Amino acid sequence: MEIYHRISDIRDYVKARRREGKKIGFVPTMGYLHQGHLTLMERAKEENDIVIASIFINPTQFGPDEDYEDYPRNLEHDAKLAKGVGIDIIFAPKVEEIYLKNACTRVEVDDLTTKLCGASRPGHFRGVCTIVTKLFNIVNPDRAYFGQKDAQQVLVIKKMVEDLNFDVKIVVVPIVREEDGLAMSSRNKYLSTKEREAALILFKSLTLAKNMIEAGKRDANLIKSQIIKNIENEPLARIDYVHIANEKNLKEVDLVTGKILIALAVYIGETRLIDNILLEV
Ligand code: PAJ
Repeated sequence: MEIYHRISDIRDYVKARRREGKKIGFVPTMGYLHQGHLTLMERAKEENDIVIASIFINPTQFGPDEDYEDYPRNLEHDAKLAKGVGIDIIFAPKVEEIYLKNACTRVEVDDLTTKLCGASRPGHFRGVCTIVTKLFNIVNPDRAYFGQKDAQQVLVIKKMVEDLNFDVKIVVVPIVREEDGLAMSSRNKYLSTKEREAALILFKSLTLAKNMIEAGKRDANLIKSQIIKNIENEPLARIDYVHIANEKNLKEVDLVTGKILIALAVYIGETRLIDNILLEV
């Protein structure tokens, strides 16, 4: 495995592999890798000849009061983990390599980005779409792998790929959880022992909703109010949003029927965590 820092090196590498007829899989990440990321990489490895993973903490998707400066970094450890799952190349560019000082082009997906994380993190998806576009143009992959953990990100990226005719297949990988149910996240590192316990409230609330639906409840507002009550009982938790929506367009529903996404964003202390569940009723 090699680590490349320059766009030109990745381009040369990919061109050479393409000439050999190899299929290229791509896993974009911001690093501080955990089993969630590694599962995406393993899946990519199964389905492609060559797998490239990027590790780039993208400044443009963080708001001014968010954790860009503090976001956990450990390239050396990440490289070991990535090598362990058979990644061929890590692309780890510096910010200056990616963003020209005089850049004035951004990629913006409307509508889907106005809700959920888009509403609480203005500009976040513009940053995500811009970096993913740039990475797709640099890496030119056949397939790119994204986690269901970031359900809205998946929908936004798929829409962007469709609207802008990117020649890449988006593969979505289910959420990888800790044994007790907490969705893996690089941000879990911020949690104190007490907060780590409290963070289980996200998974517990999604499970509560799932159980209600399996027991025949269909009133989305009733289910939502139960979720809210449940989270409010946890003193360290503060709700950002609870959303029960159509899985495709993220419009909130009154009646639980068809394919439904239940998505949560909850602050545990200072740390904002997200989680979701997909259900077919
Ligand atoms: P990051 O948060 O590092 O996540 C990289 C990829 O790993 C994303 O597709 C995310 O959904 C997936 N992932 C994270 N935790 C997961 C889990 N527990 N189970 C399954 N998949 C998981 O998402 C980003 O980075 C950035 O926005 C990025 C797409 C790299 C653009 O900067």
